[in-house]
Amino acid sequence: MHIDTKCVHSGEGTDTITGGVNTPIFPSSAHEYLDAEDAAYPRYFNTFNQKVLVRKLCELEGAEDGVVFSSGMAAFSSVLLSFLKTGDHIVLQDDIYGGSHAFVSAFFDRFGIDYSFVASSPEAIEEAIRPETCLVFIETPTNPLLNVIDIRAVVEVARRNNCLTVIDNTFATPILQNPINLGIDIVVHSGTKYLGGHSDLSCGAAVTSSELAAKIRHTAVNFGGNLNALTCYLLERSLKTLAIRVRQQTENALDMARFLKDQPYIGKVNYPGLPDHPGHDLARDQMSGFGAMLSFELGDIDLSADGFMRKLKLIKPAVSLGGIETTICDPARTSHVKVSAEVRARQGITDNLLRLSVGIEDIEDLVGDVKQTVEL
Ligand SMILES: Cc1ncc(COP(=O)(O)O)c(C=O)c1O
Repeated sequence: MHIDTKCVHSGEGTDTITGGVNTPIFPSSAHEYLDAEDAAYPRYFNTFNQKVLVRKLCELEGAEDGVVFSSGMAAFSSVLLSFLKTGDHIVLQDDIYGGSHAFVSAFFDRFGIDYSFVASSPEAIEEAIRPETCLVFIETPTNPLLNVIDIRAVVEVARRNNCLTVIDNTFATPILQNPINLGIDIVVHSGTKYLGGHSDLSCGAAVTSSELAAKIRHTAVNFGGNLNALTCYLLERSLKTLAIRVRQQTENALDMARFLKDQPYIGKVNYPGLPDHPGHDLARDQMSGFGAMLSFELGDIDLSADGFMRKLKLIKPAVSLGGIETTICDPARTSHVKVSAEVRARQGITDNLLRLSVGIEDIEDLVGDVKQTVEL
């Protein structure tokens, strides 16, 4: 099946009672067990709706098995702690989502797990690898600077050094980037973003081989963080429109980036779809579209990031991203607020940086909203 068809049909559960075309929702947390081989329980990650959702996500990502969580952070933390123990070392890109960065820097010392945050390049990753390194974590394109890292090259470095590779594929989605096809071992998502797509649910996912999924599930059963049946259903429903949403959003984002880069009141625009973006060729090679996230600095304008956002009428200043509505935020106060000012400065996240999550609205209305911020 092609990806659009997979979005609609993969994994779906059959409604044998009413013949309805949608997967039924089974909300029970208690199930009979006397004659059951694997009695369902939500925190065992084996309920009907969890399994249906995992099947669809695996089909989309080209994975064998997976686990769905109640948030992206539950997925990220469970995956990392499934494979790391005291004395181990992990290499991560420095400019990943602030919450992921903060989790590692706030908790790993107390577990005796060593970590290195490095620049977004396979060379920097290789340089940081030591004999005790067992995991490499990347995110591409990154939040919020849209840096692109060569997935194949990272995989090559990691394999040569016997390290597992984990990628956060939240920004790209399986519609635009399939890291498992490029050799990545484990893909994690904040499903709260594009997978959900309507800014009305929180979930996360990790998909991989059957063997690694079993290890992640073992950790997850102990940590909790499972996803309830209703949200599983909502996510499954949202995934049916993932391809058309992401394509429309990507088209709008390219138009918006082209518009922004020509405005004197806008400074640097970070979008891999612009030919002068340092990751443009790489993104063209390893993605099938440039995505719908971009960030920019304010230029020749007497407004702070906060002041600029307050002038917008249609585009909503909001935490989170990936919804069908266009939202904007300043990462220094939102996604990267838990990252120290020093690390933000090192990464290039200034107080003046704005991150735009482009939605499916008509692009003329979106551009019009930006234009009116500088009109009298
Ligand atoms: C790239 C990325 N990864 C992971 C997360 C964490 O996801 P959640 O908020 O669903 O826990 C976020 C949240 O903003 C994100 O942007």
